[in-house]
Amino acid sequence: MTSPTTSTTDPLLVPRVHEVVAILDEIPDVVTIRCVPIDGEPFSFLPAQIGMVGAFGIGEAAISISSPATESGFHEYTIRRAGAITSALTRMRSGDQFWVRGPFGTAWDLDVDGRDIVLAAGGIGLAPLRSAVYAVIKQRERYGAATLVVGARSSAQLLYANEYELWREHGLAVFDTIDEPEPGWSGRVGFVPDIVEQLGIAGPSASAMVCGPDIMMSLTAERLLRADVPADQIQLTLERNMQCGNGLCGHCQLGPMVVCRDGPVVRYPAVAASLMVKEL
Ligand SMILES: Cc1cc2nc3c(=O)[nH]c(=O)nc-3n(C[C@H](O)[C@H](O)[C@H](O)COP(=O)(O)OP(=O)(O)OC[C@H]3O[C@@H](n4cnc5c(N)ncnc54)[C@H](O)[C@@H]3O)c2cc1C
Ligand code: FES
Repeated sequence: MTSPTTSTTDPLLVPRVHEVVAILDEIPDVVTIRCVPIDGEPFSFLPAQIGMVGAFGIGEAAISISSPATESGFHEYTIRRAGAITSALTRMRSGDQFWVRGPFGTAWDLDVDGRDIVLAAGGIGLAPLRSAVYAVIKQRERYGAATLVVGARSSAQLLYANEYELWREHGLAVFDTIDEPEPGWSGRVGFVPDIVEQLGIAGPSASAMVCGPDIMMSLTAERLLRADVPADQIQLTLERNMQCGNGLCGHCQLGPMVVCRDGPVVRYPAVAASLMVKEL
């Protein structure tokens, strides 16, 4: 007869109820939710890892944890309203509850001591890079030059714009750019891959981390390769429509990979051939 055993349930499968402690309107349709679990400490995570974030009665979605990974007291999720789940999450107010499972996925490799850091973000792609930004400025002495190029369609769409000055003060060169000229904007105009190339920030001693729409990542990787950044020093974070989050349903397949299991962070050579393949 088998004796009763302790539960072996995978903690990643167990939703933990979290409470909203603050909510910040970022850009149109995007908010950052700061939350704490109601049953203890938040789980540890690495930059770029995701939580499966759930709205009661609706469902759960993959959302990058955008707060610094060393911030143990709370987590932040920067969420853009897309469909039913993200609409419910972005409507929440302080004191509201939702659930999180995690952390899931691969992380940025920040163990690139002595190398120049090139971070490139398009639109809400800065969310999975924000924890990398804080990791780099916290241990700034580990790296050579450190640069962030962030692009958006318009100045109103530049995510976390109120933090750029702080990041600059801590040794990260931040270059923001918008797609088209607009009244009152005297800053850069142009696409992220072009700005990366024009600034001349990439070379054989650079490590790059890139997040944005597939076309932006593909073109940025192309420019980085042209500047002699080694292909395996180009990291990208992939976003695919997910369902199970567990490598079971095949919904997030990209070439030979399933993004929820093998990503979101991947090295360029692993996805070069399949990056521009459209989702079904
Ligand atoms: C690794 C990863 C990290 C992510 N990080 C964030 C984040 O930090 N913040 C955030 O707001 N969202 C993030 N997402 C996207 C988020 O998971 C989806 O927007 C969410 O599942 C949409 O759920 P919904 O019910 O609100 O909308 P749905 O009704 O499911 O979708 C609304 C529309 O968006 C499309 N869609 C859904 N998911 C995706 C996707 N992943 N890529 C492209 N189109 C999609 C659907 O096809 C549909 O057209 C991430 C996704 C992945 C895979
Ligand atoms: S979401 Fe099911 S395999 Fe990735």
